This record gives sequence, structure tokens and C-alpha cells, in this order.
Amino acid sequence: MSRRQFIGAGSATVANLAVVGCTGVGARALPTGSQPSAFDAIKPGREDALRLARGYRYDVIARWGDAIFSDDTSLTGDEILAGKLTSDAAATRQLGCMGTNCDGIAYFGDAGSSARGVLCVNNEFVTAALTFAAIADSSAGRAAGREDWTRQNPQAVSFMQAAHGISIVEVARSSGRWKMLRGGRRNRRICATTPIAIAGPAAGAALLRTRADPQGRTVLGTFANCSAGRTPWGTYLSAEENIDDYFGGSTDWLAGEPDAAVRDAHRRFPLLQRSLYGWEYVDTRFDVRSNPTEPLRHGWIVEVDPQDPASRPVKRTALGRFSHESANSATSRDGRLVVYMGDDDEFEYIYKFVTRDVVNPVDRRANRDLLDNGTLYVARFDADGSGQWLPLRFDPKGPLGPGSGFASEADVVIRARAAADLLGATPMDRPEDIEPDARSGRVYIACTKNPDRSANPGEKQWSGRLIDTGVDAANPRANNRRGHIIELSENDGDMAALRFTWEVFVFAGGDGAGAAMACPDNLAIDPSGRLWVVTDTDDRTLANNGCFVIATRGAARGQLQQLASAPVGAELSGCEFTPDGRTLFLSVQHPGEGGTLDEPVSDWPDGEAAPPRSTVVAVTRDDSATI
Ligand code: FEO
Ligand code: CA
Ligand code: CA
Repeated sequence: MSRRQFIGAGSATVANLAVVGCTGVGARALPTGSQPSAFDAIKPGREDALRLARGYRYDVIARWGDAIFSDDTSLTGDEILAGKLTSDAAATRQLGCMGTNCDGIAYFGDAGSSARGVLCVNNEFVTAALTFAAIADSSAGRAAGREDWTRQNPQAVSFMQAAHGISIVEVARSSGRWKMLRGGRRNRRICATTPIAIAGPAAGAALLRTRADPQGRTVLGTFANCSAGRTPWGTYLSAEENIDDYFGGSTDWLAGEPDAAVRDAHRRFPLLQRSLYGWEYVDTRFDVRSNPTEPLRHGWIVEVDPQDPASRPVKRTALGRFSHESANSATSRDGRLVVYMGDDDEFEYIYKFVTRDVVNPVDRRANRDLLDNGTLYVARFDADGSGQWLPLRFDPKGPLGPGSGFASEADVVIRARAAADLLGATPMDRPEDIEPDARSGRVYIACTKNPDRSANPGEKQWSGRLIDTGVDAANPRANNRRGHIIELSENDGDMAALRFTWEVFVFAGGDGAGAAMACPDNLAIDPSGRLWVVTDTDDRTLANNGCFVIATRGAARGQLQQLASAPVGAELSGCEFTPDGRTLFLSVQHPGEGGTLDEPVSDWPDGEAAPPRSTVVAVTRDDSATI
């Protein structure tokens, strides 16, 4: 059954589709990805455990608050429960530890090793109710109460800033077991105050200058780091996602800001009056009334060299500013790098960046600034199953020029969403992770959900522009609460192609309609070409989140098996294999979400009523075979 037949047939066939998969996968028969995995799938469940299929086990690499340097600055469970993290001393100690809420992971094997290397881990945000005991007591988790609490506990902001960003740790497997190498030479913390260079077309642009940085070339920190990716030259790409949750004062400020260019730059990435985290009450950098351009310095892809802990990370502005989910890459037929990126918000777009120059496979230094020159494209999905990559290129005579309010290439990348609007890109159901497979020219896109997708066409004001929020071919489910995965095939299997075909690969369900998983988030493709999916639903009427594998070809195409079930309240993320496919690194993010330290719903991973902690684990098979 084709995607188009499916749409015509209506939702009664969703379950069928998920089982039998789609047909018409192109002319080339590829051997990979056709086999179900060799394990007995587990059933969804609600246990407060990281439950794995029989024959699998996990090793804890690091929990939030585990010291990564030689000094043992670890945060103890007792002091977390006692509300001891609102001090400068605690913030300083956190800087020496694994950050919190681990998300995207990339593994860099030493000389290609699958048993020793460096792990880069994003630390996305802080779950305040599971971090600060007092905040739950005072109900200050809610925005208005948060102001008083934050002003009384200003060091909590320093602590949160130290817990965000990126954690880099050396890891090794010996006698079959993985562990973090505490004190490893390359171990590093990058947080919300680490100096980071700005490079690419927007470096130095007026819109990126602040009083503290009149050159617009150095920004403090990275935060809201969601998923991630890797380059072939061994650098880490960290995606700054929900940066709009971190700035306050927007509604007051917006009407009075005299600079129209600044106002317009914020139009398609709107901010809040009160941030979710309350930093603006004690750190004016996060108050847009006094620093209207600071938010424009966030929402980028950050490149980090995990081999050199002294290197300065770089925000690569050529890859555009939006709510970046991830940045996985593949090489085009002529040797350029293609980076696929989702903008994870309702009715936002899918992008890819193609470098101008080719990757140098032998001299990694030659690729140092490769991501500063190239073309950013946005996707349009047509109803006939074809699609097009539309270039976001500044052109005085083209659609993105002075006539439409764009003065430079810097303008285009800073206002990437607005530029994409003008080109007619397709608004998607929250595109999360995107995984390209250069061997096949196929690209998998997780659209996690969009309950605001309506059954009927109709224009609505949404996030700074008027759009049709009705269903379309690529987002065919109204009130899409469970999400779907799209398979995109680049023309001629070339990742740099400007045209593609596509179909819905799987509709997620988890409640009887669709495949037995809900809200696909991060993806991975294993060495044999199968697609791995980890989920992130916060619908507590469903079973816990999980890790799943789906065959991508052959008779088993579309078949789903569950390998892991997450602890209560956690989403699984990361989803990164070693090159030999024998280890799967997962982030177990925010176990216990929905509870507080006083009224917990989870004590994973430590048990015995310890506070729940986000934790990076390595999953292996007892027989050491491939996952
Ligand atoms: Fe941070 Fe889109 O998940
Ligand atoms: Ca995500
Ligand atoms: Ca998520």
C-alpha cells in the first residue's frame, strides 16, 4: 500500500501500515536493514527501571552530578534531597561534574576504536522540581512564584548555568564493561557561561552585537542543547533548541523597542514575558529589555573539538538560527558535507546545509572552517510524493533581498525561519531528529507530534506569521498526538540533490492506532541499516518511553521491536552506536519528571529513595554481539 493510497483509505488502516510498512522503496535492492534484530522484543511497561530485552545489560557511564575530573566534587543524593544546591560552592562543584538532563550523544573512538574514546553529551535543561528541594515546597516552579524564589536564591541561577551545556568524558570498555575515565585528559565541561566564538555570515553582524560584546564575535555559553551530530573530521555538533525558554521581559519590551530590525529579528522566534527558568531576575543578560540582541546569539549549531579541551567552541551561523534539534551529516557524491537539521516547534521546517567545499578526509585541520561557507536549504514536501530543497540565499534580485526586507546573508541566517516562510517551505509536525544514510541516499525524519494540526484547512496566526494549520500530505494526521517518521530519498541517492521523493515510513501510536510507540524523538541508523528510535511522550496515560528498532527494507520493513523501556518520567535520547554496532549509548533524561523531591515518582538509577538522576548508559549484549 502506498502512502497516497493510505491517506485516501483513512485512519482505520494505520495499524496495518505500521505492521506491513510501505512499498515502493526505489529501484536499487540494498541488502542492509532488512533483518529484524536478534532479540525477543519486550512489551511496553510502567516499571521504574531501565528494562532491557533478555540478553542485554547496561553500564552506567555517568549520572548527573558525578565528578568527571580528578577532584571528587560529586553531588551526593543526600545534599540534593536536603536542598543544598543553591550556593556558589555547589555551582562550582557542578562545573566539575556531569551536567544534568543528558540528551544528544556522540561517540568518537580513538583511532576508530569501539572500546575506547570520547563521549560528548548535551545537557539540555534543568528540571527544577528534581534539583532544588525548596522550589517544590514553595510552589515556585510556576512562573510567577519563581521570581521571588530566584531573587532569594540567586546562586540557584549560577548552579543551573553550570549544569547546562555539554559534558565531554573519556570512556573505555574493559572486560566487557563500559565506564567513564574520571580525570581523563580530554574531559571537559562547557556550560551556559563558557566563551564561544561566532563564525560564518552572521559573525560581527549588528544584530549579534551587545554592550558586553560590541564586536558581535564572542558569546557566553550554550544552553538548551538538545540532540547533536558528528562531522567526519571528528568534531561534535551540538544543537541549541528551546533558547526562547531562557529569556524574559519580551512582552513589555516588544512594543517599545525602537530598532525595527531587532524587533523583526525576533518576530519568528518569539520570547516569553517570564522565562521558564527565572535567570533574568538575577542575570540581566537574560532580560531582553536590557539586552534585546542577546537572544539572537543563541539558537545556533555549536561545533566542538572533543580532542582538544582548550579549544574554543564555535557557533556556525551559516547553518541558520532556529530551534535546532540535531545536526547529523553525510557526505555528498562529490565529497561535500551535508548536515540535516530539524526545527523542533509546531509548524516549523526541515533544513539541510551543504558545504561549498569538499571534506578533506586526511587532514582534519583543513576542515576547520568548512561549515562557514555553503548553502542552507529548506524542504518543501509536495502532495505527489516529491519534494524540493529551496536555497536560503541572499540575492539582491531574488526572493530574499532588500525587496523582502533582507539586507545581507547575515540577515538570512539570523532570520532563517522568516526566509523559509517566503520560499514556501512546508510547516511540519515538530521535526526532531533527522538521520541521513549516505549508503542509500535515504533520510529519516522524526516528526514527534503536533496536537495543533487541524483536520480542515484554515489560516491561523502562528509564531509570527499566517499559515494554513490544516493537514497536508506530509503531515496527514489531525490532532497528531503521537507523531510519525518520514523517509526521504534524495534524487539519485546524492545527499546534495535539490529534489527528493518521500513517504510516511511509520505512524506512531502507542494507544492502539499505529506502531506501538509514541512521539519518536532521536534516531540512529545501525551499521546494518536498521532504524533505531527513542521516544519522548509526556502522556502518562501511555506506557513509559522506550527504545525501538525498525527494519527499513525487505519483508520486515516497518516492523517494530522494543529493546528498552525507560524509568518512570524519563525520555530516552542519545541513541548512538559504536562503529562496530556492539554498544548503544543512551541518555536516560529526566527520570521522575512529574514528581518532586518531596513527592517522587522515581528513584532511578540508585533506588532506595535516592533522588532520580538523568544518566548516560552503555547498552551491550551479554554475548558481546552486535546490538
Ligand atoms: Fe529537546 Fe526537540 O527535543
Ligand atoms: Ca529531542
Ligand atoms: Ca524531546
